[in-house]
Amino acid sequence: MNSKDQKTIISTFEKEVYEGLTAFPKYLSSKYFYDEVGDDLFQQIMALPEYYLTRTEYQIFKVNKSDVVKSFDPDKKGFDLIELGAGDGKKTKILLKELLENNYDYTYMPIDISQNAVDGLVENLNQEMPEVTTQGQIGEYFEVLDRLKHMSDRKKVIMVLGSNIGNLLHPRAIQFLKKLCNAMHRDDLIFIGFDQKKHPQKVLDAYNDKTGVTAAFNKNVLARINKELTGNFDLDKFMHWETYDPESGTAKSYLVSKEKQTVDIDELSLQIHFEAWESIHTEISQKYDDDIVKWLAEESGLEIVKSFTDKNEDYKNYLIKKS
Ligand code: AVJ
Repeated sequence: MNSKDQKTIISTFEKEVYEGLTAFPKYLSSKYFYDEVGDDLFQQIMALPEYYLTRTEYQIFKVNKSDVVKSFDPDKKGFDLIELGAGDGKKTKILLKELLENNYDYTYMPIDISQNAVDGLVENLNQEMPEVTTQGQIGEYFEVLDRLKHMSDRKKVIMVLGSNIGNLLHPRAIQFLKKLCNAMHRDDLIFIGFDQKKHPQKVLDAYNDKTGVTAAFNKNVLARINKELTGNFDLDKFMHWETYDPESGTAKSYLVSKEKQTVDIDELSLQIHFEAWESIHTEISQKYDDDIVKWLAEESGLEIVKSFTDKNEDYKNYLIKKS
Protein backbone atom coordinates (compact mmCIF):
# COMPACT_ATOMS: atom_id res chain seq x y z
CA MET A 1 0.00 0.00 0.00
CA ASN A 2 1.41 3.41 -0.82
CA SER A 3 0.98 6.39 1.45
CA LYS A 4 -1.96 7.80 -0.54
CA ASP A 5 -4.07 4.67 -0.17
CA GLN A 6 -3.52 4.76 3.57
CA LYS A 7 -4.93 8.23 3.85
CA THR A 8 -8.57 7.24 3.78
CA ILE A 9 -9.96 9.71 6.29
CA ILE A 10 -10.73 12.92 4.44
CA SER A 11 -11.65 15.94 6.50
CA THR A 12 -14.46 18.32 5.57
CA PHE A 13 -11.80 20.96 5.00
CA GLU A 14 -10.01 18.76 2.43
CA LYS A 15 -13.28 17.89 0.70
CA GLU A 16 -14.49 21.48 0.50
CA VAL A 17 -11.13 22.86 -0.65
CA TYR A 18 -11.06 20.23 -3.38
CA GLU A 19 -14.64 20.99 -4.45
CA GLY A 20 -14.27 24.76 -4.33
CA LEU A 21 -10.99 25.02 -6.18
CA THR A 22 -11.93 22.56 -8.93
CA ALA A 23 -15.28 24.31 -9.49
CA PHE A 24 -15.89 27.12 -11.96
CA PRO A 25 -15.98 29.83 -10.81
CA LYS A 26 -13.74 28.96 -7.86
CA TYR A 27 -14.90 29.45 -4.27
CA LEU A 28 -13.89 28.68 -0.66
CA SER A 29 -16.00 28.97 2.49
CA SER A 30 -15.42 31.86 4.88
CA LYS A 31 -15.78 29.46 7.80
CA TYR A 32 -12.16 28.49 7.09
CA PHE A 33 -10.89 31.98 7.96
CA TYR A 34 -11.02 31.07 11.63
CA ASP A 35 -8.02 29.33 13.12
CA GLU A 36 -5.74 30.86 15.76
CA VAL A 37 -4.29 33.33 13.27
CA GLY A 38 -7.72 34.08 11.80
CA ASP A 39 -9.30 34.59 15.23
CA ASP A 40 -6.58 37.13 15.98
CA LEU A 41 -7.09 38.90 12.66
CA PHE A 42 -10.83 39.03 13.30
CA GLN A 43 -10.14 40.61 16.71
CA GLN A 44 -8.16 43.28 14.85
CA ILE A 45 -10.99 43.74 12.35
CA MET A 46 -13.49 44.34 15.16
CA ALA A 47 -11.26 47.15 16.43
CA LEU A 48 -10.89 48.84 13.00
CA PRO A 49 -12.40 52.31 12.63
CA GLU A 50 -14.04 51.18 9.35
CA TYR A 51 -15.65 48.08 10.85
CA TYR A 52 -18.68 49.69 12.47
CA LEU A 53 -20.63 46.46 13.14
CA THR A 54 -19.11 45.35 16.45
CA ARG A 55 -18.94 48.81 17.92
CA THR A 56 -22.54 49.55 16.96
CA GLU A 57 -23.92 46.33 18.42
CA TYR A 58 -21.89 46.97 21.57
CA GLN A 59 -23.47 50.45 21.82
CA ILE A 60 -26.98 49.03 21.29
CA PHE A 61 -26.40 46.64 24.19
CA LYS A 62 -24.97 49.37 26.43
CA VAL A 63 -27.97 51.62 25.89
CA ASN A 64 -30.70 48.94 25.92
CA LYS A 65 -29.32 46.27 28.25
CA SER A 66 -32.10 46.61 30.78
CA ASP A 67 -34.89 46.21 28.20
CA VAL A 68 -33.07 43.48 26.32
CA VAL A 69 -32.55 41.38 29.42
CA LYS A 70 -36.14 41.89 30.59
CA SER A 71 -37.44 40.67 27.24
CA PHE A 72 -35.47 37.40 27.57
CA ASP A 73 -37.14 36.08 30.69
CA PRO A 74 -39.98 38.33 31.83
CA ASP A 75 -41.28 35.87 34.47
CA LYS A 76 -37.78 35.19 35.80
CA LYS A 77 -38.35 31.45 35.66
CA GLY A 78 -34.82 30.71 34.52
CA PHE A 79 -33.41 29.92 31.09
CA ASP A 80 -30.47 28.79 29.00
CA LEU A 81 -28.72 31.47 27.01
CA ILE A 82 -27.26 29.72 23.99
CA GLU A 83 -24.95 31.73 21.77
CA LEU A 84 -24.04 30.50 18.29
CA GLY A 85 -20.71 31.90 17.08
CA ALA A 86 -19.81 33.41 20.44
CA GLY A 87 -16.26 34.45 19.53
CA ASP A 88 -14.65 36.49 22.31
CA GLY A 89 -17.99 37.28 23.97
CA LYS A 90 -17.12 40.93 24.50
CA LYS A 91 -20.59 42.24 23.62
CA THR A 92 -22.37 39.35 25.33
CA LYS A 93 -20.67 40.18 28.63
CA ILE A 94 -22.72 43.38 28.86
CA LEU A 95 -25.87 41.23 28.90
CA LEU A 96 -24.38 38.56 31.17
CA LYS A 97 -23.53 41.26 33.75
CA GLU A 98 -26.95 42.84 33.49
CA LEU A 99 -28.58 39.43 34.00
CA LEU A 100 -26.44 38.78 37.06
CA GLU A 101 -27.13 42.16 38.60
CA ASN A 102 -30.85 41.53 38.26
CA ASN A 103 -30.66 38.04 39.72
CA TYR A 104 -31.81 36.14 36.67
CA ASP A 105 -31.30 32.39 36.84
CA TYR A 106 -29.46 31.33 33.70
CA THR A 107 -26.77 29.16 32.19
CA TYR A 108 -24.61 30.58 29.43
CA MET A 109 -23.77 28.16 26.59
CA PRO A 110 -21.38 29.68 24.07
CA ILE A 111 -20.82 27.67 20.90
CA ASP A 112 -18.20 28.43 18.25
CA ILE A 113 -16.44 26.66 15.38
CA SER A 114 -13.13 27.79 16.83
CA GLN A 115 -11.87 25.59 19.68
CA ASN A 116 -9.43 28.36 20.40
CA ALA A 117 -12.21 30.93 20.83
CA VAL A 118 -14.40 28.73 23.06
CA ASP A 119 -11.50 27.76 25.33
CA GLY A 120 -10.45 31.39 25.69
CA LEU A 121 -13.97 32.61 26.41
CA VAL A 122 -14.82 29.94 29.01
CA GLU A 123 -11.53 30.51 30.81
CA ASN A 124 -12.02 34.27 30.74
CA LEU A 125 -15.59 34.05 32.08
CA ASN A 126 -14.63 31.68 34.86
CA GLN A 127 -12.11 34.30 35.93
CA GLU A 128 -14.11 37.44 35.36
CA MET A 129 -17.63 36.27 36.18
CA PRO A 130 -17.35 33.12 38.32
CA GLU A 131 -21.03 33.46 39.32
CA VAL A 132 -22.11 32.58 35.78
CA THR A 133 -22.44 28.90 34.93
CA THR A 134 -20.76 28.62 31.54
CA GLN A 135 -20.84 25.52 29.33
CA GLY A 136 -18.82 25.92 26.14
CA GLN A 137 -19.22 23.75 23.05
CA ILE A 138 -17.40 23.41 19.74
CA GLY A 139 -19.51 23.14 16.64
CA GLU A 140 -20.57 24.45 13.31
CA TYR A 141 -23.93 26.22 12.97
CA PHE A 142 -25.95 23.62 11.11
CA GLU A 143 -24.51 20.67 12.98
CA VAL A 144 -25.08 22.31 16.37
CA LEU A 145 -28.72 22.94 15.50
CA ASP A 146 -29.36 19.21 15.38
CA ARG A 147 -28.12 18.92 18.96
CA LEU A 148 -29.92 22.03 20.15
CA LYS A 149 -33.33 20.48 20.69
CA HIS A 150 -31.99 18.00 23.22
CA MET A 151 -29.59 20.36 24.90
CA SER A 152 -31.88 21.41 27.75
CA ASP A 153 -35.46 21.30 28.98
CA ARG A 154 -35.45 24.86 30.23
CA LYS A 155 -36.55 27.89 28.29
CA LYS A 156 -34.01 28.73 25.58
CA VAL A 157 -32.87 32.11 24.34
CA ILE A 158 -30.72 31.59 21.28
CA MET A 159 -28.38 34.43 20.37
CA VAL A 160 -26.75 34.94 16.99
CA LEU A 161 -24.83 38.20 17.19
CA GLY A 162 -22.46 40.18 14.99
CA SER A 163 -24.62 39.75 11.86
CA ASN A 164 -23.07 36.31 11.58
CA ILE A 165 -26.19 35.23 9.69
CA GLY A 166 -24.94 37.56 6.93
CA ASN A 167 -22.55 34.84 5.79
CA LEU A 168 -25.61 32.97 4.48
CA LEU A 169 -27.49 33.82 1.30
CA HIS A 170 -31.24 34.11 1.89
CA PRO A 171 -32.18 30.50 1.03
CA ARG A 172 -29.61 29.15 3.48
CA ALA A 173 -30.54 31.77 6.07
CA ILE A 174 -34.12 30.48 5.85
CA GLN A 175 -32.90 26.89 6.21
CA PHE A 176 -30.96 27.99 9.27
CA LEU A 177 -33.88 29.88 10.83
CA LYS A 178 -36.26 26.99 10.08
CA LYS A 179 -33.93 24.65 11.93
CA LEU A 180 -33.76 27.08 14.83
CA CYS A 181 -37.55 27.32 14.84
CA ASN A 182 -37.77 23.56 14.83
CA ALA A 183 -35.55 23.29 17.91
CA MET A 184 -37.64 25.85 19.81
CA HIS A 185 -40.53 25.49 22.19
CA ARG A 186 -43.39 28.01 22.41
CA ASP A 187 -41.70 30.44 24.85
CA ASP A 188 -38.20 30.20 23.43
CA LEU A 189 -36.68 33.24 21.76
CA ILE A 190 -34.08 34.17 19.19
CA PHE A 191 -32.04 37.31 19.72
CA ILE A 192 -30.24 38.02 16.48
CA GLY A 193 -28.19 40.83 14.91
CA PHE A 194 -28.73 41.95 11.30
CA ASP A 195 -26.46 44.58 9.78
CA GLN A 196 -28.62 47.08 7.91
CA LYS A 197 -28.41 48.49 4.38
CA LYS A 198 -26.68 51.86 4.41
CA HIS A 199 -24.47 54.11 2.29
CA PRO A 200 -22.74 51.64 -0.04
CA GLN A 201 -19.36 53.29 0.54
CA LYS A 202 -19.62 52.70 4.27
CA VAL A 203 -20.23 49.00 3.64
CA LEU A 204 -17.34 48.75 1.18
CA ASP A 205 -14.96 50.51 3.57
CA ALA A 206 -15.87 48.11 6.38
CA TYR A 207 -14.61 45.21 4.26
CA ASN A 208 -11.70 46.99 2.63
CA ASP A 209 -9.76 48.69 5.40
CA LYS A 210 -6.73 50.81 4.66
CA THR A 211 -4.36 48.81 6.86
CA GLY A 212 -5.02 45.56 5.01
CA VAL A 213 -6.19 43.52 8.00
CA THR A 214 -9.29 42.36 6.12
CA ALA A 215 -7.11 41.36 3.15
CA ALA A 216 -4.92 39.28 5.47
CA PHE A 217 -8.04 37.74 7.04
CA ASN A 218 -9.39 36.80 3.61
CA LYS A 219 -6.02 35.35 2.56
CA ASN A 220 -5.85 33.30 5.76
CA VAL A 221 -7.85 30.57 4.03
CA LEU A 222 -4.95 30.22 1.56
CA ALA A 223 -2.44 30.29 4.42
CA ARG A 224 -4.38 27.44 6.05
CA ILE A 225 -4.29 25.40 2.86
CA ASN A 226 -0.52 25.95 2.76
CA LYS A 227 -0.13 24.90 6.40
CA GLU A 228 -2.66 22.11 6.71
CA LEU A 229 -2.74 20.63 3.22
CA THR A 230 0.85 21.36 2.16
CA GLY A 231 -0.06 23.94 -0.43
CA ASN A 232 2.23 26.49 -2.01
CA PHE A 233 0.01 29.53 -2.53
CA ASP A 234 2.09 32.70 -2.83
CA LEU A 235 -0.18 35.11 -0.93
CA ASP A 236 1.40 38.12 -2.63
CA LYS A 237 0.13 36.89 -5.98
CA PHE A 238 -3.47 37.33 -4.85
CA MET A 239 -5.36 40.49 -4.00
CA HIS A 240 -8.36 41.03 -1.79
CA TRP A 241 -11.36 42.47 -3.69
CA GLU A 242 -14.66 43.62 -2.23
CA THR A 243 -17.96 44.40 -3.97
CA TYR A 244 -21.29 45.63 -2.66
CA ASP A 245 -24.55 45.50 -4.58
CA PRO A 246 -27.00 47.96 -3.00
CA GLU A 247 -29.93 46.25 -4.73
CA SER A 248 -29.42 42.78 -3.26
CA GLY A 249 -27.61 44.10 -0.18
CA THR A 250 -24.86 41.56 -0.71
CA ALA A 251 -21.22 42.39 0.01
CA LYS A 252 -18.88 39.82 -1.54
CA SER A 253 -15.20 39.11 -0.93
CA TYR A 254 -12.88 37.65 -3.50
CA LEU A 255 -9.24 36.71 -3.83
CA VAL A 256 -8.09 37.66 -7.31
CA SER A 257 -5.06 36.08 -8.94
CA LYS A 258 -2.76 38.87 -10.13
CA GLU A 259 -1.15 36.62 -12.75
CA LYS A 260 -1.46 33.32 -14.55
CA GLN A 261 -0.13 30.72 -12.13
CA THR A 262 -0.27 27.13 -10.93
CA VAL A 263 -0.57 26.14 -7.28
CA ASP A 264 0.16 22.70 -5.81
CA ILE A 265 -1.79 21.23 -2.91
CA ASP A 266 0.20 18.12 -2.07
CA GLU A 267 -2.21 16.58 0.45
CA LEU A 268 -4.92 16.58 -2.19
CA SER A 269 -2.56 15.56 -5.03
CA LEU A 270 -4.00 18.56 -6.76
CA GLN A 271 -2.72 21.23 -9.13
CA ILE A 272 -4.83 24.34 -9.49
CA HIS A 273 -4.45 26.63 -12.48
CA PHE A 274 -5.32 30.30 -12.30
CA GLU A 275 -5.72 32.54 -15.29
CA ALA A 276 -4.59 36.12 -14.76
CA TRP A 277 -7.38 37.95 -12.85
CA GLU A 278 -9.31 34.79 -12.12
CA SER A 279 -11.13 34.96 -8.77
CA ILE A 280 -11.88 32.80 -5.75
CA HIS A 281 -15.12 33.87 -4.07
CA THR A 282 -14.61 33.60 -0.31
CA GLU A 283 -17.33 35.36 1.66
CA ILE A 284 -20.68 37.07 1.57
CA SER A 285 -21.74 39.62 4.18
CA GLN A 286 -25.42 40.26 3.60
CA LYS A 287 -27.07 43.59 4.56
CA TYR A 288 -30.75 43.82 5.48
CA ASP A 289 -33.72 46.06 6.14
CA ASP A 290 -36.88 45.48 8.23
CA ASP A 291 -38.83 44.09 5.26
CA ILE A 292 -36.19 41.50 4.45
CA VAL A 293 -35.88 40.39 8.07
CA LYS A 294 -39.68 40.19 8.35
CA TRP A 295 -39.78 38.09 5.18
CA LEU A 296 -36.97 35.77 6.38
CA ALA A 297 -38.79 35.28 9.68
CA GLU A 298 -42.14 34.55 8.04
CA GLU A 299 -40.60 32.06 5.62
CA SER A 300 -39.16 30.25 8.63
CA GLY A 301 -42.28 30.04 10.82
CA LEU A 302 -41.13 32.92 13.01
CA GLU A 303 -42.15 36.47 13.80
CA ILE A 304 -40.44 39.60 15.04
CA VAL A 305 -41.39 40.65 18.57
CA LYS A 306 -39.34 43.84 18.66
CA SER A 307 -36.04 45.32 17.63
CA PHE A 308 -33.28 47.47 19.09
CA THR A 309 -31.14 49.80 17.02
CA ASP A 310 -28.60 52.66 17.15
CA LYS A 311 -29.38 56.27 16.28
CA ASN A 312 -28.19 55.93 12.65
CA GLU A 313 -30.08 52.64 12.28
CA ASP A 314 -26.85 51.11 10.97
CA TYR A 315 -27.48 47.86 12.78
CA LYS A 316 -30.43 46.09 14.43
CA ASN A 317 -30.95 43.35 16.96
CA TYR A 318 -34.28 41.57 16.61
CA LEU A 319 -36.13 39.58 19.23
CA ILE A 320 -37.93 36.78 17.41
CA LYS A 321 -40.41 34.10 18.48
CA LYS A 322 -42.28 31.19 16.95
CA SER A 323 -45.39 32.37 15.17
C1 AVJ B 1 -18.32 37.66 11.43
C2 AVJ B 1 -19.41 37.12 9.39
C3 AVJ B 1 -20.17 38.94 10.69
O1 AVJ B 1 -19.20 39.40 7.50
O2 AVJ B 1 -19.02 41.17 8.73
C4 AVJ B 1 -15.44 40.77 8.77
C5 AVJ B 1 -16.79 38.59 9.03
N1 AVJ B 1 -15.35 39.39 7.15
N2 AVJ B 1 -14.64 41.29 7.82
C6 AVJ B 1 -18.80 39.98 8.50
C7 AVJ B 1 -15.89 39.58 8.34
C8 AVJ B 1 -14.59 40.44 6.84
C9 AVJ B 1 -18.04 39.19 9.58
N3 AVJ B 1 -18.97 38.21 10.26
